[in-house]
Amino acid sequence: MIVLAIETSCDDTGISIIKSKNSKKIDYNNFEILSNLTNSQIDVHREYGGVFPALAKREHQKALVPLLIKSLKKSGLLKERKKEIDSKKISKIKINLEKNELLFEELREFIKKYDAPEINKIAVTIGPGLEPCLYTGINFAKSLSFYWNIPIVGINHLEGHILSSFLSSNEKLKLPTIALIISGGNTQLIYFEKIGKYKIIGETRDDAAGECLDKTARILELPYPGGPEIYKKAKECKTNKYKIKLPRPMKHEKNYDFSFSGLKTAVLYHSKENKINDNYVKEMCYEIEASIIDVLLYKTLKAVKEFNVKSLILGGGVSANKKLIKEFKKNSPVDIFIPKPLFSGDNASMIGLVSIYSPNIKKLIKPKPNLKINE
Ligand code: KG4
Repeated sequence: MIVLAIETSCDDTGISIIKSKNSKKIDYNNFEILSNLTNSQIDVHREYGGVFPALAKREHQKALVPLLIKSLKKSGLLKERKKEIDSKKISKIKINLEKNELLFEELREFIKKYDAPEINKIAVTIGPGLEPCLYTGINFAKSLSFYWNIPIVGINHLEGHILSSFLSSNEKLKLPTIALIISGGNTQLIYFEKIGKYKIIGETRDDAAGECLDKTARILELPYPGGPEIYKKAKECKTNKYKIKLPRPMKHEKNYDFSFSGLKTAVLYHSKENKINDNYVKEMCYEIEASIIDVLLYKTLKAVKEFNVKSLILGGGVSANKKLIKEFKKNSPVDIFIPKPLFSGDNASMIGLVSIYSPNIKKLIKPKPNLKINE
């Protein structure tokens, strides 16, 4: 079984091709990533200090076909065209892609040059994410599925983050488990006994952890995305001149929810009363990172104990933070699965993996910007 996976939920365009050896178990030896390509739009969005949806959609349109060609080539699946072009089908695709004109032009050229590759399934992210971005990936996937006559399945992006550590691990998942998903759009604690059947036990009531890092970085005049910048500055911090002490929001409340918007406000007020110089920024970054890690670690480990799970999973862009990884590894009483940096942020391989191993796939392929993990 060969899957072509497509991810466009936010500001990364991802195309991946995965070959599975037909097992239902999560096991690295049972599948092979033939190609995993991601086109990051960070440089485009940097001047806006965050993701600008209309621009993100345009960038996805530009990136999808070139990435597809590269990906097929890398996987040895790119076939020069020998068959007749089906003009009727192309006309239908044109209607399907009427809001993605740029993409249609690229796709038409692609169809003129190449035949259908030997793949068995297309998997595409249907949510959660930015609606125009989701639409672009879905319309592209649907057009390919229609022209090539290959089945298509819809995948929940969050489930991708849950399973992403298994893209690079040959260890077996121990169930029941808890996954902490920490990205730019989500912060959730998810309990499960079976892949595909998830229970949200806690989530952020306002900003996600990554969102908080991005927003506080902006206050400190650091570039987007804030997470890696805050990590760098925090690592360089050698002083404690400003004695900054930020709150640990909701740490001791009797639930597993989070809240990070107060942290952002605290940083804003503190920074207004102080001169933003390099030393101040380093000390503030150190404290922002410490506060977020402290709350995430404390509540997650509390859940690990209370739910008596056998393992812990991390996923999402923030799980690339080396200090966070160190703290979780040091303190977790159970085996911990953390994706390699290549797979912690948005990527299409995690979408392909879900389509192979989870029963939780959607047949109705339409964008769901607010899709929940338990829907
Ligand atoms: O999962 P992701 O790539 O995209 C979403 O689906 O949201 O996560 C992006 C988030 C951004 O907020 C970014 O600042 C954060 O992940 N991030 C990090 C690191 N790398 C990315 N946060 C902390 N430390 C990092 N090394």
